[in-house]
Amino acid sequence: MFETTLSELEVQARQQIATAKTVEELEPVRVEVLGRKGALARISKELAKLPPEDRARVGKLLNAVKQSLEAAVEARKAEFQALALKARLDAEWFDLTLPAPEPERGNLHPITQIQNEIEDLFTSLGFTILDGPEVETEYHNFDALNIPPDHPARDMQDTFWLTDGNLLRTHTSAVQIRGLERFTPPLRMIAPGRVFRNEEVDASHEHTFYQLEGMMVDREISVAHLIYFMKTLLSAIFGREVTVRLRPGYFPFVEPGFELDIQCLICGGAGCPVCKQGGWVELLPCGLVHPNVLRMSRIDPELWNGFAFGLGLTRLVMMRYGIDDIRHLQSGDLRFLRQF
Ligand code: PHE
Repeated sequence: MFETTLSELEVQARQQIATAKTVEELEPVRVEVLGRKGALARISKELAKLPPEDRARVGKLLNAVKQSLEAAVEARKAEFQALALKARLDAEWFDLTLPAPEPERGNLHPITQIQNEIEDLFTSLGFTILDGPEVETEYHNFDALNIPPDHPARDMQDTFWLTDGNLLRTHTSAVQIRGLERFTPPLRMIAPGRVFRNEEVDASHEHTFYQLEGMMVDREISVAHLIYFMKTLLSAIFGREVTVRLRPGYFPFVEPGFELDIQCLICGGAGCPVCKQGGWVELLPCGLVHPNVLRMSRIDPELWNGFAFGLGLTRLVMMRYGIDDIRHLQSGDLRFLRQF
């Protein structure tokens, strides 16, 4: 009779243990069966009523049921723990094989890029890179370049004058003078930098733009040397052979002075909107250094002469990339700048 009760109890308890879904559901089952006042404890008390010959046998059975149910409760608890751990790990899971997000990368301004290229080229040709101040003296920007105060050429460049009599340099030619003062010929130098002119801003004019000055002083420099270096420069920039022509141009610090044109790279000289149907694009003012300029920097023009050129970096970038408005370049607009 005890045997039947015990085995029924065991079957029922096992089922309740198995169907408990949480530790909270399991605990009342455990208390009800295995607790101090639970079903097994109650049965245990009844054992006293049994005749001694049955007591030991049933007691043994009761202990066996008790141990096996305790083990079932512990096993169920362990299952709950394993499930909780798995749920936590599932929540933490992420796919290691997914591609990482692209890091944000900046790029160099197109003017800086072209400046770097030209610097590399000229360094390979034995030129030194010079830097000069953006706030210049009147002497370096004008007088020493053979442009005295009353010279009409001063009107060619609208100048930002500072109250102390200095100015914002209107061209990188001022650095020519600093080069001539600092070094003795033979010398080869380039000077890239920002220049400033008090101009009305529109699609093709900016108050701030970039030039790259070049100068070579040696013995018996001729226009042929000038043309050679300019063709080398332009072919490197545009990545192909370019056809050039010289027209007379006036700059007080060169004699003779030229405007160097290149045959339009868009139409090959046939005429198009970029070259305004002329077939040629004006790109580079240049010439042979005026003897007065050398003399003012204490270099004997009987022994030395040279050529100089002033490349408009801003203009060049616009030509290379077909940019139709100069104002984009200093706008700081990332949508524009990210294209280069
Ligand atoms: N400095 C001149 C300008 O800005 C350009 C130039 C440079 C001309 C060198 C001749 C030689 O207009």
